[in-house]
Amino acid sequence: MKCERATEKFPEKAFIPDSPTLLWGVKNLLSETIADIKKTRPEDLDKEILRAAMIAELDAVNIYEQMANLTKSEEIRKILLDIAREEKIHVAMFETVLLQTDEEFLQVYIDYALAKR
Ligand SMILES: [Fe+2]
Repeated sequence: MKCERATEKFPEKAFIPDSPTLLWGVKNLLSETIADIKKTRPEDLDKEILRAAMIAELDAVNIYEQMANLTKSEEIRKILLDIAREEKIHVAMFETVLLQTDEEFLQVYIDYALAKR
């Protein structure tokens, strides 16, 4: 599913024309999230919602940090980086609930953390 809102808001090559960053030339600034809700098993729905929410928050982090890197205003940069940090908190909130909801995901984290020791 395309994010129509982002496509309408930021048509291709219409956002920050001279920027060498990821913002330039990107048709959709935001990731595609929930593919087909009708094919999702009811027991997986909350997990998909939480993952989609994390993706949206991570997209927001990237966008705010990219804009912070582009602006020449220190005041705007500070605001954008402050908001990016808030989005990281939102990622952590959704991830925490996902780890409580998806036992397999939690086990992957545990196994990975143990392997890193
Ligand atoms: Fe957020």
